Amino acid sequence: MPSIYLDYNATTPVDPAVAEAMQPYIATYYGNPSSTHGYGRTAKDAVEGARAQVADLLGCAPEEIIFTGGGSESNNTVLKGVAYTYRHQGNHLITSAVEHPAIINPCRFLEQQGLRVTYLPVDRTGMVDPADVRQAITPQTILISIMHANNEVGTLQPIAEISRIAREHGVLMHTDAAQSVGKIATRVNELGVDLLSVAGHKVYAPKGIGALYIRSGIAFEPLIHGAGHEFGRRAGTENVIFNVALGKACELAKGDLARYQREVRRLRDLFQEELAKRFGERVVVNGHPEQRLPNTLHVNFRGVIGAELLEKLPELAASTGSACHAGEVALSSVLEAMQVAPDLGMGAVRFSLGRYTTREEIERAVELIERVY
Ligand SMILES: Cc1ncc(COP(=O)(O)O)c(C=O)c1O
Repeated sequence: MPSIYLDYNATTPVDPAVAEAMQPYIATYYGNPSSTHGYGRTAKDAVEGARAQVADLLGCAPEEIIFTGGGSESNNTVLKGVAYTYRHQGNHLITSAVEHPAIINPCRFLEQQGLRVTYLPVDRTGMVDPADVRQAITPQTILISIMHANNEVGTLQPIAEISRIAREHGVLMHTDAAQSVGKIATRVNELGVDLLSVAGHKVYAPKGIGALYIRSGIAFEPLIHGAGHEFGRRAGTENVIFNVALGKACELAKGDLARYQREVRRLRDLFQEELAKRFGERVVVNGHPEQRLPNTLHVNFRGVIGAELLEKLPELAASTGSACHAGEVALSSVLEAMQVAPDLGMGAVRFSLGRYTTREEIERAVELIERVY
């Protein structure tokens, strides 16, 4: 196992306080929240308490939150639900070229069903231009879905501005906030969004749990039909244990936001400065210089293949931005959309820091990189 974990954008460990909060609901309070006896009531209270914790982080009412099986499910619920329900009003969706596959692939599926999707371009920092959004809207547009923070390069999109444009045109606005929740402020009214996706395992809860914010009054067909769970928006007996986990994780995240802005950002900046000091122009930073997640450092190492560099760094856990198949290096679709030159982008590596990253780890990581690069 690598000893320095710098892949928090891929997933986070479960916070010990989250693990502790889940514990009683595994074998002691195992009731079905729909049961009317004491076991059921205890489980129901736990689910509703967790819902309130998620809502508190996002600045919305608990009734506007539903639990899902993760970020992918939240995104699919929105795209397919809105497309199905509003198809008589219009058949056009707007998204961006740098979305996660959990947006891009449902969009591709919907295109096969006859919908039209506009994939907006980004500039070299990975940012969407709100003017492009305005221009892409037609009377047929029913949904705009633009991610809050990019998972690879960390660029933050101007969501509040795009939301204003959506509202002016009476179009629903969704943001995939899987990467931003817990790292920066994600208050739904400040962002102005109607729908927002959360992924638990990016915020120190387990994998396989997520949430979806749905602004009060917005109705669409659920992805999973069944009994009336989650206000009739997502059927299936509640995952009490994981709901409790996500609630606790959101409570902790709220308290940790300021630290992300200061300490985590400072460590990320230190990492970036140290790489610049040692390697100068041989290392190029991707993403927006300021409008970027405070924990993410995505760089191109000139003259090497990212995956091969990481192979020489078994003590470091990080991600490469390019895939290597049969000797051919393919840039990620995000880097392609940012028009990163292939010979530069093949050396892409994403380092993502988190709650437990220390200064010693960053200093050691720089030393280790210097030995092999
Ligand atoms: C931006 C973004 N959206 C969606 C997802 C998918 O979330 P999940 O793994 O919970 O389905 C991820 C996680 O990789 C992500 O980074």
